[in-house]
Amino acid sequence: MEKFVINGGNVLDGEVNISGAKNAAVAIIPAVILCDEPCRIENIPNISDVSLIGRILQEMGAEVKRINKSTLYIDPTKIHSFSATSDLVRGMRASYYLLGALLGRYHQARVCLPGGCNFGARPIDQHLKGFAAMGARHELVNGAIIDVRSENKLQGSHIYLDVVSVGATMNIMLAAVKAEGQTIIENAAREPHIVDLANFLNSMGAQIRGAGTDTIKIRGVEYLHGVTYSIIPDQIEAGTYMCAVAATRGKVLVKNITPKHLESITAKLREIGCEIKEYDEAIFVDASKRPLVRCNIKTMPHPGFPTDCQPQFATLLCTVDGTSIINENVWDNRYQYVSELTLMGAHISVEGRLAIIEGGSRLKAAPVKATDLRAGAAMVIAGLCADGTTEVSSINYIERGYEDIVEKLTNLGADIKKVYYDHSSDQSLRA
Ligand code: EPU
Repeated sequence: MEKFVINGGNVLDGEVNISGAKNAAVAIIPAVILCDEPCRIENIPNISDVSLIGRILQEMGAEVKRINKSTLYIDPTKIHSFSATSDLVRGMRASYYLLGALLGRYHQARVCLPGGCNFGARPIDQHLKGFAAMGARHELVNGAIIDVRSENKLQGSHIYLDVVSVGATMNIMLAAVKAEGQTIIENAAREPHIVDLANFLNSMGAQIRGAGTDTIKIRGVEYLHGVTYSIIPDQIEAGTYMCAVAATRGKVLVKNITPKHLESITAKLREIGCEIKEYDEAIFVDASKRPLVRCNIKTMPHPGFPTDCQPQFATLLCTVDGTSIINENVWDNRYQYVSELTLMGAHISVEGRLAIIEGGSRLKAAPVKATDLRAGAAMVIAGLCADGTTEVSSINYIERGYEDIVEKLTNLGADIKKVYYDHSSDQSLRA
């Protein structure tokens, strides 16, 4: 077992390079299934979710080679299986993109129900509704595997999403790229990774218009050619470092990012008193100049404040005076980190979708665990500004989405180490 051991109190200072976006990579890698030639994908984050999706493609017959730390070569032409039902698939949420990609290419797919972070019900009814509108039938096999197929070529269709869903928008886009005629997705999600997926598909010859707006039009094409494509920077990794800098009252240049993707986060950091300077591909965050003040946050689909930065920002708000209110508007149960933060002396009460934070008391070190990926990032931030030595367990969640987090934080002056331990003999950690 592994855990992070963090000696809190160091002020973050320096420069950090942001990796490629996890939630773009986990869609773009399966999207290569649709291509009729090999592709080379650059700026891939070196994280466990990416390794997992690569291994799943290999199990299906694709050739997947890591050319260097951030570049993958994928040849999908040797895929011989339309089924992804191994234990690997159960380990990640984004395995649902295999449904849209396989259906779009081969008109059939059999994929385990997705796993991944658990914060409430994570239905895929909108994905299936989209596939059905294009002529595919689905069946649940043994309560654990979704089988989707269509006798004939998928037909373009007009689909209105009942909820704004990132996954359903991207999955329907994947299924529609080679369908007969035009597909229109209304009430589509507008996240930067949706635009990135559309740009990737278009660079191979797809005809997608409107990605980044709430209406996306996809005209089906016959053939997609191989490309070299570079994935966008990870806006949530960037947001996480920005929260960590503010929580330690540091000053850091966050590099290799698209500042436009971070507007909701920079607006809130400015509101609480951080000085922010934006450059073409970097943002400077300075939280050292004046005392920070409270604020309220409501999470929304893009361009609203991202739910994936909510736990990290909430942790930052624990360190400032006054009462802040968080309204989690995307997921039903994204406050599992609150009980862990409470162990560190935070004063937070949760009432339904609201979390009320009484900020200002110093956090104290404690053994805590990552209850999911972003909750884990929040524990690391808490450890960085707490008094004493914090141990964060279940870091496999954190490594699903953050490349080289120990090295990046150490370069900024943090005292953080990854240590190996025997779980059965460690009395300091709770089960
Ligand atoms: N929803 C439905 N039906 C569906 C799909 C979604 O009711 O068919 C609901 C969900 O229950 C949720 C809301 O719609 O309340 C939004 O879900 P969405 O489909 O947008 O989420 P997702 O595609 O499963 C992706 C990211 C999440 C991120 C959300 C929201 C990936 C692999 N995951 O999930 O990222 O929180 O969008 O932005 O892209 C993370 O990176 O930590 C993470 C959890």
